[in-house]
Amino acid sequence: MKATVLTASTLALIAGAALAEPKAEVLHWWTSGGEAKSVAVLQQEFADKGGVWTDMPVAGGGGDAAMTALRARVLSGNAPTAVQLKGPAIQEWYEEGVLADISDVAEAQGWADVLPASIAGHMKCEGTWCAAPVNVHRVDWIWANAEVLAANDIEMPTTWEEFNAAAEKLQAAGIIPLAHGGQAWQDATVFEAVALGILGADGFKKAFVDLDEATLTSPEMVQVFDQMRTLRGYVDPNFPGRDWNLATAMVMNGEAAFQIMGDWAKGEFLAAGKTPGEDFLCASVPGDGFLYNVDSFAMFDVSGDDAKAGQELLAELIVGPSFQKVFNLNKGSIPVRTDVSLEEFDMCAKLSSEDMTASADNGSLLPSYAHGMALRGAQSGAITDVVTQHFNSDMSSEDAVQALAAAVANSL
Ligand code: GAL
Repeated sequence: MKATVLTASTLALIAGAALAEPKAEVLHWWTSGGEAKSVAVLQQEFADKGGVWTDMPVAGGGGDAAMTALRARVLSGNAPTAVQLKGPAIQEWYEEGVLADISDVAEAQGWADVLPASIAGHMKCEGTWCAAPVNVHRVDWIWANAEVLAANDIEMPTTWEEFNAAAEKLQAAGIIPLAHGGQAWQDATVFEAVALGILGADGFKKAFVDLDEATLTSPEMVQVFDQMRTLRGYVDPNFPGRDWNLATAMVMNGEAAFQIMGDWAKGEFLAAGKTPGEDFLCASVPGDGFLYNVDSFAMFDVSGDDAKAGQELLAELIVGPSFQKVFNLNKGSIPVRTDVSLEEFDMCAKLSSEDMTASADNGSLLPSYAHGMALRGAQSGAITDVVTQHFNSDMSSEDAVQALAAAVANSL
């Protein structure tokens, strides 16, 4: 009798582990129209496989607020199961000893064979897989309202001189040239796009990857700040604090002509039913190169079979070909997997993919500093502080480059 009871409970235990109900509390900052539509794809796939998703959205483009919420949760010993996390922040959290190892899923699914090596590198922590990549966003884009440009006889600019000339013309016609939201991460996004064009790929790498002092204080960096000052003259007086998606909406409804923003802006245009090439135009910012921003999810070390099953299922779905296609069609980015066809993707996505391949070949494929791909938090934060301070004051470009070099030196 006793033996029977033992056997039954042992069986129950085994069955319990095998039939764990995948559960995940997911912290992310995808709350705009296009973003919410995209994350819903993952929620649906997770639910279809029997998963129970607890949503923890923390509004705030660029994820600064989400990262503050994450720190509070981890400090209180109650980390979420899965977290939208990217770039060197993944390794920073790994060093804190709080990330789970997802190598089993990565190896079973052969991630090494379907991900570009440079991107796979961001997902590894001391040889183990510690994050699952979602997409490749390009940061250095200019978006425009097609009708506004046509009505004012303006072509998509290919140099900053052309951009400035177009902006002057638009301003004279009573149109806001540049839709911008005055939040530090948006200032940084515009700044790095301008910097790529003016410094070139080598200069960008020296400045924002190697933190080379001579480049940070160079005459070219002075020019970057000069162009930022010029751009400041093209935004409307209500720009402070505006969310990025509201800036995109200004371009959509013709209130403004241009926005300099990563291709998550395309997700907003698409969610509003707009068509690239007809309603809106996309072009890379003047100059060569490609600034990449790869969204990814890291799993935190949590206990319980359900949570672990949830993490495995999420990792598997995220890198799976079906999610990679549908999510990225909505999000504005391109799949991170090299084996997903772009046939159903639009002209901007195809341009992104071609430029990414060409940049990888000629050494101008670069990590975005503004979106946490190039530097650790202390360094990128120090740079952004100066960029924002300059944009919101009458600081000279010469003073800005000195402040930049000093802030970087202090952050090391
Ligand atoms: C980026 C993120 C994108 C997009 C954007 C605005 O940092 O990588 O996925 O959501 O912020 O929130």
